[in-house]
Amino acid sequence: MTSSPTSTRHSPPPRAAEGLRVSEELPPPVPALFPARALRERLDDRLTRELAGAAERIARGSVMPTLDMAGFRRELAGFDFRDPRPLEPLLEWTIAQLEHGVTHMTHPRYFGLFNPPASFPSQCADRIAGAFNPQLASSGSSPAPVEIEAHVIRAFARRAGLPADASGHFTTSGSEANYTALVCALTRAEARFGEDGVRAFAAPVAMYTSCECHPAWFKIVHQAGVGRAALRLIATDGQGRMDARALAQRVAQDRQQGLVPVLISATAGTTGAGMVDPLAQCAQIAREHGLWCHVDAAWGGAALCSDRLRGLLAGIELADSLTIDAHKWLATTMGCGMFITRHPALLSEAFRVRADFMPSTAHSLDPYLNSVQWSRRFMGLRLFLALAAAGWQGYAAHVERSVEVIEQVKARLLTRGWSVVNDSPLAVLCTLPPPGYPAVGEIVRRVRACGRAWAACATFEGREVLRVCATHGETSLADVEELVAALTAAA
Ligand SMILES: Cc1ncc(COP(=O)(O)O)c(C=O)c1O
Repeated sequence: MTSSPTSTRHSPPPRAAEGLRVSEELPPPVPALFPARALRERLDDRLTRELAGAAERIARGSVMPTLDMAGFRRELAGFDFRDPRPLEPLLEWTIAQLEHGVTHMTHPRYFGLFNPPASFPSQCADRIAGAFNPQLASSGSSPAPVEIEAHVIRAFARRAGLPADASGHFTTSGSEANYTALVCALTRAEARFGEDGVRAFAAPVAMYTSCECHPAWFKIVHQAGVGRAALRLIATDGQGRMDARALAQRVAQDRQQGLVPVLISATAGTTGAGMVDPLAQCAQIAREHGLWCHVDAAWGGAALCSDRLRGLLAGIELADSLTIDAHKWLATTMGCGMFITRHPALLSEAFRVRADFMPSTAHSLDPYLNSVQWSRRFMGLRLFLALAAAGWQGYAAHVERSVEVIEQVKARLLTRGWSVVNDSPLAVLCTLPPPGYPAVGEIVRRVRACGRAWAACATFEGREVLRVCATHGETSLADVEELVAALTAAA
């Protein structure tokens, strides 16, 4: 309860706790946490120079971590946090540990998972967001940032061909966005789900995706409370794409057996092989059976930026919702997913809540009323600044360049007798060595051990393959040559 000005005037002043003297002044701020401006500026400048130097050394050195972990752990144990240490050497120490203690996704010969080196505008965004630290839960406390995020979400929704009133929000990850899709699907499928949870359904629910889906779906069905048995992994067509006939049959069969199908998630750019499920057919099956159709375009969604490549995602415009991760092919700093839906009212229904202490209650806008998170960082600024600085055409060039990098790798490997096993038009290559080479796992181990490049092992259509993905925006032809040399030397 708030007290009126009158009652405040007449109430006795607060008494100090027994034994505590109330001084006339506050203690000074803790300088280690809030240093003076001159010191901050000096450290900021130093940090900028040190990081640039480290980036140059990384590009010339090993892709793999080279840190002696036993020595590192001993040093780490020395941090007992009893005595404060000066920040400047701490910053230097931290940069050195990261320079030697991580697999370098920022290395131009990291041909690995969907982890990009972050674009410069997105790094600037993190700096600005860190300095202002706006609370993105509510438009009341962060009117401009919330509008910026909503603007970027709408821009991507339009690019995907969703209706003008489509909306959504930024998420920490593709997994969070996919989880949001399942919560929406459950909320739409059964009006009492919000109150009673899965008990509201007359029978166990089921959701459908392909056996080439991202494995986070196993955790999603678990945490959503529908259980891992609810996940139906549909067979693929021999080329890593969900078999639409098998999907239709399984949905019909489950329905006949009394289950409650709720969601189909088609993948646009599978994690292992960059394959695109038949999106229009999946949407059609979902419509026929009244299911929510989600497209997990966590990585492949970036192709929407390119007029040349966006046709590969035809059918995405029919989806009820989408996942697109800017921290993958759109090269922002980590933790920048997007959930986009053509059903904004349903999204608000799924995440409705009442909190009188919040500074706003804008049902269609406030992120705390429309998403999993409450307190949230200004994640969307990373994509806003990058997209504003590069334009769609800049991102198109970035995405098309990655596809070209993979074409160059492919051409070189084919002439050396390697075969290509995936037919992806995107920037992932699954390849097998000519006869006489060691097993793929051993090739990958040898390539990584020499530190010249990084590639992955993956399973594609039941076979172990070598997976090469272009994620770095600055990979050169010399880097491609070096990768191919490392792969062929691994025999
Ligand atoms: C197709 C797909 N979906 C979802 C995810 C999970 O995304 P995140 O790692 O951001 O949770 C990935 C990650 O690679 C992915 O490739």
